[in-house]
Amino acid sequence: MDKVIIADNLSLSYSNDEAIINKVNFSVNSGSFVFITGASGSGKSTLLKSLYGALKPAQGSLIVGGVELSSVSRSKLNFLRRHIGIVFQDYKLVKEWTIEKNIMLPLIINGYEKNVTKNQVDSLLKHVRLKHQSGKYPQELSGGEQQRVAMARALSHNPILILADEPTGNLDDYSSGLIWSLLEGANTQLNTTVIVVTHHIPQTMNIDYKHFHIEYGSIHEVN
Ligand SMILES: Nc1ncnc2c1ncn2[C@@H]1O[C@H](COP(=O)(O)OP(=O)(O)OP(=O)(O)O)[C@@H](O)[C@H]1O
Ligand SMILES: [Mg+2]
Repeated sequence: MDKVIIADNLSLSYSNDEAIINKVNFSVNSGSFVFITGASGSGKSTLLKSLYGALKPAQGSLIVGGVELSSVSRSKLNFLRRHIGIVFQDYKLVKEWTIEKNIMLPLIINGYEKNVTKNQVDSLLKHVRLKHQSGKYPQELSGGEQQRVAMARALSHNPILILADEPTGNLDDYSSGLIWSLLEGANTQLNTTVIVVTHHIPQTMNIDYKHFHIEYGSIHEVN
């Protein structure tokens, strides 16, 4: 089976500090659903940062979508990122744009046709129950609503890999359920590889998943 991610002796650190992730080996098969857990400060967001090339390996090798990230060129990284959907822990929505335009952004970057773009954005807005808010700006929405916009944006261009950092962190059970079903749907229907950082693995998952736990700089699989 194809591997979307291969980490080999990978270490991650900020500046010359002690390694946050220390000489880890793991891989992720294409089409899998992976949960990442770990205490606050253990390095979960740091690991996700490395997976979309925002933090270069301090040591070892990290291959994502066939691209070696320790020596990637700017243009190749931009190309890779077009196939990745990201939900940041702090959302990172564009303040000056309506939520509709925020969700549209990856589609515009990828050169989708206008009518495809409109349909896709409408359908996602309905999925995250925000159709009635589409003309609003991020700061006019609650934290949980912004989180749902961030999820819709991450999925809009049908990426091959979704990285989501605590995507249900601010949501009630109902809205969390919407997010989990969107991610499950992308995984089962589009074969999207999903990597989710969370403090709570939902009890309601209907699919097989892997669970990696980060502790003291190491990553181990929980069975
Ligand atoms: N930009 C940065 N510069 C220096 N150190 C950082 C930076 N970002 C994070 N760190 C440090 O890296 C460690 C891991 O942080 P990280 O954000 O990956 O944790 P986390 O597991 O995502 O925690 P949380 O559950 O609270 O989100 C922490 O000790 C943090 O202080
Ligand atoms: Mg974090």
